[in-house]
Amino acid sequence: MDELQKAAKIAFATEFSFYLKAHNFHWNVVGRTFLQDHELFGKIYEEVYDSIDDFAEKIRSLGTFMPGSYTRFSVLSVIDDEVEVLPADAMVAELLDDNEKVIKLLKIVFDLSEQEGKHGFSDFLAGRMDAHEKHGWMLRSTIA
Ligand SMILES: [Fe+2]
Repeated sequence: MDELQKAAKIAFATEFSFYLKAHNFHWNVVGRTFLQDHELFGKIYEEVYDSIDDFAEKIRSLGTFMPGSYTRFSVLSVIDDEVEVLPADAMVAELLDDNEKVIKLLKIVFDLSEQEGKHGFSDFLAGRMDAHEKHGWMLRSTIA
């Protein structure tokens, strides 16, 4: 259970960082494809943000406290902060790369959750993986 809790917190902090980066890109993207990119990043950050509270409360239900500060998130997240304003294509490519990292982590937590017989949590994680596969499809299609 300890391993599940730890992995879940890493996945959560990474998911939160992913949300923040998508929102950051939504705000700061420029260029000839501004409207499409602004909207794509908007769709992604909104979807992820809507899942955050449920994700945190499901981990709380495993009996552990939640990280909820930028300091803790920066320690736990496997996604690097982006402090530069990148060209639009570079934003899409970076978010696609981060999206793969999120999916990998979700799979690890899913497997641990199944080992612990936490099928309800696994179901939630499968939904998150599914949502991120869709984000990946959209990001990949944008830079094809
Ligand atoms: Fe907006």
